[in-house]
Amino acid sequence: KEMTYLDTTESTQIVAHKLAQEGAREGHIVLANEQTKGKGRLGRNWHSKQGTSISMSLILRPDLSPQKTPQLTLLTAVAVVRALKNQTGINCEIKWPNDVLINGKKLVGILTEMQADPDRVHSIIIGIGINVNQQLKDLDPEIQGLATSLAIEGGKPFERALIVAAVVNEFETLYEHYLTNGFEAIKTLWETYSISVGKYIYARTMREVLYGFAKGITNEGVLLLEDEQGTLHQIYSADIEN
Ligand code: BTN
Repeated sequence: KEMTYLDTTESTQIVAHKLAQEGAREGHIVLANEQTKGKGRLGRNWHSKQGTSISMSLILRPDLSPQKTPQLTLLTAVAVVRALKNQTGINCEIKWPNDVLINGKKLVGILTEMQADPDRVHSIIIGIGINVNQQLKDLDPEIQGLATSLAIEGGKPFERALIVAAVVNEFETLYEHYLTNGFEAIKTLWETYSISVGKYIYARTMREVLYGFAKGITNEGVLLLEDEQGTLHQIYSADIEN
């Protein structure tokens, strides 16, 4: 496996995009001890200070149509949940589309970006940030109460390298399954780990706030929400609140 390890960098996503443009191969992993300008979804920041968290980006080059990339984000969340369970014994749950939580607090963020033409994907960069050894005081004031770490939840520190290896292994297994057999089994797994499906939720989209019953996800990873008038909404992008 090809891997780029950096002590400090702005964002492993930026490094991975650059490597992808320069021809890095599928499976290339970018890992950093610290990010100074970690990127979150929707233009947000992602805090990842020295030595306490996992910041990694995977470069993929699947032969997929761009519409299918959300499936890979969902697959990644499943891989992380399974790896954390195996490696630490801690049970996490998934909030659509890609937050991994413990007891309602965010532990993992996943950011999928791609370089693509309308009909062809050149590369997909999947960024994974895991809060590992932060204590409560290390969490940024603005996210205290909303975020947590494995050490906070597990009551002891964890070895980051072992968790990285577990995530990569689990991802590889699911990704190979996905490329040969499609999304069906991954979708079923995702639904079993999800805290959104089967519940009444708020979905805050760019345009409006919807309230309704989360019926499930489609094969494209779109969230299906039935509002109180019985109208079915397809949610492509939103913040979800239970
Ligand atoms: C989110 O908003 O929940 C997504 C956060 C994604 C953070 C990871 S950390 C590794 C990779 N590099 C980044 O700059 N962001 C992603």
